[in-house]
Amino acid sequence: MLPLEDGFSRRFYYLRLSVTDVCNFRCTYCLPDGYRPDGRKSFLSVDEIRRVVSGFAAMGTRKVRLTGGEPSLRRDFTEIIETVAATPGIDKIAMTTNGYRLKERAAEWRAAGLTALNVSVDSLDPRQFHQITGENKLAEVMDGIEAALHAGFPSVKVNAVLLRGLNDGQLAEFLAWIRDKPIELRFIELMQTGEMDSLFRDRHVSGEQIKTHLLEQGWLQQLRGLDDGPAQVFQHSGSRGSIGLIMPYSKDFCAGCNRLRVSSVGKLHLCLFGENGVELRDLLHADLQQDALIQRIRVALLGKAATHHLHEGNAGMTPHLASIGG
Ligand code: GTP
Ligand code: 5AD
Ligand code: SF4
Repeated sequence: MLPLEDGFSRRFYYLRLSVTDVCNFRCTYCLPDGYRPDGRKSFLSVDEIRRVVSGFAAMGTRKVRLTGGEPSLRRDFTEIIETVAATPGIDKIAMTTNGYRLKERAAEWRAAGLTALNVSVDSLDPRQFHQITGENKLAEVMDGIEAALHAGFPSVKVNAVLLRGLNDGQLAEFLAWIRDKPIELRFIELMQTGEMDSLFRDRHVSGEQIKTHLLEQGWLQQLRGLDDGPAQVFQHSGSRGSIGLIMPYSKDFCAGCNRLRVSSVGKLHLCLFGENGVELRDLLHADLQQDALIQRIRVALLGKAATHHLHEGNAGMTPHLASIGG
């Protein structure tokens, strides 16, 4: 079958699938104060997940990232991993998590077929971590990362969203932490979302200043491969861990886009910003609908825009990233 390709010859082997909107943390950059997920929403069932992943796999998808909200809040999360792992063609299954359940579950998820983990740690200072995430759980999350490395994950990616006046003074602590650990620490530029424009004005910092600092300190930027994600990656001979910078406000950020998203209620999103999504759920009731599902995804992809235009001042009207899995 022809691989999934858009009008700009970009190919899509990577699906980000949100399995819930619910989260037990309240990161200031992600969920607005007082936000309550719609309790009446019913998230995709394991059978619906199996069908959507099979449809994408038939068109060449090889990697699935499970996102949320916090994916591990689903009681059937281990079964979801097993189901995705059992889909022919899928050889990488990753998860993005706040790390809250990692310590107790890392080994179970690894055994179920999870191959990669991205964990959010916005600060190594417990008070600051609490201030940013709304939870006093830094120690548990750090233990979770150690548990994951022990459980056989060869490395772990750690995400820190850059926030002016908060964690932007923590670079030295972060660098010391990863010196002897197989961790790729990624600094992510704060993105403006519909419900968070004042935070953006107050706290946005460009990743360029970190890049300049790293280059001055002897870090070397790695060449990017075709299948690489959005991060610019830097390595140093004196550090086992590496640093990634995710800078969605830089001009060519979207040129190498390799991912599509499906929300927790079964909508296909061609980009994190700028469109409303295409309904897929009515085609997830039965295995017999696979051909129609594939056809709808192919047609939708023709409408994928070249870029989200954030670098040209687009305000990013997606209400918050938890709704489509970041
Ligand atoms: P891998 O390459 O699979 O490790 O994925 P990743 O780095 O995209 O994974 P992760 O879920 O850790 O993403 C980190 C953050 O990067 C996301 O939560 C977003 O904030 C940002 N990001 C990822 N993909 C995109 C994208 O397509 N567009 C934009 N603007 N931001 C993205
Ligand atoms: N800006 C940048 N990254 C965000 N995330 C969520 N909201 C935002 C935002 N407004 C990302 C963080 C976190 C992941 C789960 O979602 O990278 O680690
Ligand atoms: Fe939850 Fe992740 Fe959003 Fe934080 S970034 S509130 S952990 S979904």
